[in-house]
Amino acid sequence: MRIALLGAHGQLGTALSDSLSADVVPFTSADVDVADAARVAAALDECGADLVINASAYNFVDKAEDEPDRAYAVNALGPRNLAAWCSRRAAPLLHVSSDYVFGLDAARQTPYLETDLPGPLGAYAVSKLAGEAFVRSLCSRHYVVRTCGLYGEARSPGKGNFVKTMLRLGNERGAVSVVDDQSCTPTSAVDLARAIARLIETDQYGLYHATNSGATTWCKLAVEVFRLAKLNVEVRPITTAEYPTKARRPAYSVVDSSKLAFVIGEPLPEWQDALAEYVGRIS
Ligand SMILES: NC(=O)c1ccc[n+]([C@@H]2O[C@H](COP(=O)([O-])OP(=O)(O)OC[C@H]3O[C@@H](n4cnc5c(N)ncnc54)[C@H](OP(=O)(O)O)[C@@H]3O)[C@@H](O)[C@H]2O)c1
Repeated sequence: MRIALLGAHGQLGTALSDSLSADVVPFTSADVDVADAARVAAALDECGADLVINASAYNFVDKAEDEPDRAYAVNALGPRNLAAWCSRRAAPLLHVSSDYVFGLDAARQTPYLETDLPGPLGAYAVSKLAGEAFVRSLCSRHYVVRTCGLYGEARSPGKGNFVKTMLRLGNERGAVSVVDDQSCTPTSAVDLARAIARLIETDQYGLYHATNSGATTWCKLAVEVFRLAKLNVEVRPITTAEYPTKARRPAYSVVDSSKLAFVIGEPLPEWQDALAEYVGRIS
């Protein structure tokens, strides 16, 4: 089987390149702009893909507020272009989306199921939700996989993530202030890639939530990063109101990944175990 992998040099794309056993044809943004329908069709025709994985995305949550059209082009029209090609070829498409499709329900305190109604809060989130809608409506053989707080190694230079930022700050300062009122589940790109590699073998198409197990806040995640890295850093919990950002973020975006666990046979590891593996690997 030949798999076309878009976003091949991002965090997830890099992990997927290592996890997939099939013949993978990698595409970076320099090879194909997913927003360009003609280029997408030509590249996929040439590649002769049996299955397409979309790990490409415009991931700048705050910047998207200033350039919503660009976010929409990459995160909505990109997957639309891939879905249209897959539909014509009856090829399956695995598309990756985000926990940020949720957040409008400010009172939410229990993990979101795939059957819960989304409610995005900003331009990035709206663009991701629109991408899902295109994939789900245009391509019947789809897997749409919503994940959260990804961290991993990217082949593309300059890709950061929350864990790396904390390690850098922890080496520069004795104290950091981190928001403690946003609950989610940070997820290892390696664990997600392994789950995706198994999911695409099932032919169980549909919408999936896919994060590491458990839940935490960014502040508690930072505490755990410093503990694992043996850095003596004071972590001061602050509220979202004390750390204003251009885009609004969900106060609670924990998702329930038990549907995926049932289909692939096991849940993703606990977030603390996944983090320990990552910090150990990059330290
Ligand atoms: N990162 C997170 O915390 C997070 C949270 C929830 C969901 N997700 C979702 O998970 C998926 C993977 O995220 P990630 O963290 O691996 O992302 P990433 O590291 O930012 O990688 C995204 C890749 O997309 C490529 N790309 C950007 N614009 C493109 C375009 N117009 N055409 C083709 N490729 C383009 C980039 O290529 P170049 O490197 O060549 O520029 C980049 O390598 C995305 O769907 C993302 O929305 C991520």
